[in-house]
Amino acid sequence: MVLHIGCIPGDGIGPEIVRETRKVLDRVAAKYGHEIEYSEILLGGASIDVHGIPLTQEAIEAAKGSDAVLMGSIGGDAATSPWYQLPPDKRPEAGLLAIRKALGLFANLRPALLYQELAGACPLKEEISRAGFDMLIMRELTGGLYFGERRTTVENGMRTAVDTLTYNEEEIRRIAVKAFDIARKRRNRVTSVDKANVLDSSRLWRDVVNHVAKEYPDVELSHMLVDNCAMQLVKDPAQFDVILTENMFGDILSDEASMVTGSIGMLASASLNDTKFGLYEPSHGSAPDIAGKDIANPIATVLSASMMLRYSFDLDREADAMESAVQQVLKDGYRTGDIMSAGCRQVGCTEMGDLLAERI
Ligand code: IPM
Ligand code: MG
Repeated sequence: MVLHIGCIPGDGIGPEIVRETRKVLDRVAAKYGHEIEYSEILLGGASIDVHGIPLTQEAIEAAKGSDAVLMGSIGGDAATSPWYQLPPDKRPEAGLLAIRKALGLFANLRPALLYQELAGACPLKEEISRAGFDMLIMRELTGGLYFGERRTTVENGMRTAVDTLTYNEEEIRRIAVKAFDIARKRRNRVTSVDKANVLDSSRLWRDVVNHVAKEYPDVELSHMLVDNCAMQLVKDPAQFDVILTENMFGDILSDEASMVTGSIGMLASASLNDTKFGLYEPSHGSAPDIAGKDIANPIATVLSASMMLRYSFDLDREADAMESAVQQVLKDGYRTGDIMSAGCRQVGCTEMGDLLAERI
């Protein structure tokens, strides 16, 4: 099979983690008889440096012309990078939001699981981490506060800023369907998270999710308020299978969920539309403070690439091979600095890429 993969190295540690991931992907392709054609796409700060804007029409076309996109990370240090002297709609993050919208990537899947080999890094009490957990946050990605009308006005010398949280029924229905579908491939439970005690958009959300649930009698649905969910994530993360939630709540909860795993450098994500196309990226950010030092952890990007093989190309065997390589490397005691613990051997980004590729 020929795989056309768009590659967005991006900013910060992005280029190095994507480079190592391609090394592993190339090994998979060679072993299983596939051919990969990469096209490089500029996004975020990398695009600003060349074109003055964080996303060009050409980049959108290149992404649309590929079967799937693999991304590193976007953005720099807001305190020191010149990118943040630009108006908000010209900054790196604006490019990321714009490409999500342009490609219709409404479903953001963010798995957060505790790797047994790394359980020691979990910041929760041992009686909680011992039980383990494995959840998937299904975050709506192209609606809500991120894309609602916004403005800042000045009246009588007083500035007022407005952001709006809008959802229509169809936007809620399609993400709910994705959540229920994926729950069927997992443990058949969906927790829909909202703020229905305050927000109209959440009351509509709850109503539509209840409707969709009728088509999935085998999936158990519960509702939870977002503040309670934030608490439950540290109190009893094992209770969650699929968490379904709107864009902003999902942004916040997914950072929390990844933090409680203790190993954010391990967590992958996928952003999907209604076709097989997807954009795959690690859950962590661009870590500009360690960029270029060859100490970043490429595993989250490698696992994002394995999600890509699974969801966009239906190559389950190949995806399994990548995931097994990760397990094996951990079992063999190799760690990057972020997940280092006593008795293991610390390696850099390049060496970790080599070790993973060798295990394919
Ligand atoms: C994420 C990030 C982005 C978001 C930022 C960089 C705009 O935090 O992917 O979670 O808020 O969606
Ligand atoms: Mg975020």
